[in-house]
Amino acid sequence: MRVPLIAGNWKMNTTVAEALDLVRAMKDELEKVTDVETAICPPFVSLAPVKELLAGSTIKLGAQNLFFAEKGAYTGEISSLMVADLCEYVIIGHSERRQYFNETGDIVNKKVTAALQAGLKPILCIGESLEENEAGSTEEVLAEQLSLSLAAVVDLNGLTVAYEPVWAIGTGKPATGEQANGTISFIRQSIAEAYGEKAAQEIRILYGGSVNSANAAEFMQQPEIDGALVGGASLKANEFISIVNQTSLIKHRK
Ligand code: PGA
Repeated sequence: MRVPLIAGNWKMNTTVAEALDLVRAMKDELEKVTDVETAICPPFVSLAPVKELLAGSTIKLGAQNLFFAEKGAYTGEISSLMVADLCEYVIIGHSERRQYFNETGDIVNKKVTAALQAGLKPILCIGESLEENEAGSTEEVLAEQLSLSLAAVVDLNGLTVAYEPVWAIGTGKPATGEQANGTISFIRQSIAEAYGEKAAQEIRILYGGSVNSANAAEFMQQPEIDGALVGGASLKANEFISIVNQTSLIKHRK
């Protein structure tokens, strides 16, 4: 029922020329897969040229952030309207932004709201730190992040959640498939409590954190996991293609 989504978060990597090369290296293979949605999220400066290269493609484009005001005197910022002009998706509340750029739950909420109003599909990232995990407070932390991020959001249509345990991001130490499935099941249950069972069954929840071609199958075999937000491995064409191909095989196995 839920179409899987594999999204590549390129973070602060690739010049425009490198971004175009990377898209060229994976475009044809990704386009062969029609039962998994694929999205790539390059840096802002590459969005327009990559959009041009992807004209007519099934590969979706996403930004990695936006600012919540529509326009005005906010030097250096990019608004939801500007992103919506080029992209279908936008990553919001990534743990690196929460950590290095002081994004609070309130800021994340304003960004999610602005994205939805602009017709964008936000990929809302939530995840617990290592200390929180070890203290046994994962569920409490996630429930709080979810309710702060979605405060006053009444309709989740278009929204994707990415569960990204902070301790698994860029560390080469992913969660296990079972762990991620259990936590994502908890997230879905929290959404059901706030938005009803139908919304909870419809929303896609991805896993993110050290996903690569060697462990993708373990995650995609889990019923609650609807895809992945891939960082490092999305910068290697073969890795990303393999993750998408494995997802297609596993999720559509008869
Ligand atoms: P990683 O990053 O795959 O490099 O761990 C994932 C992310 O931060 O979205």
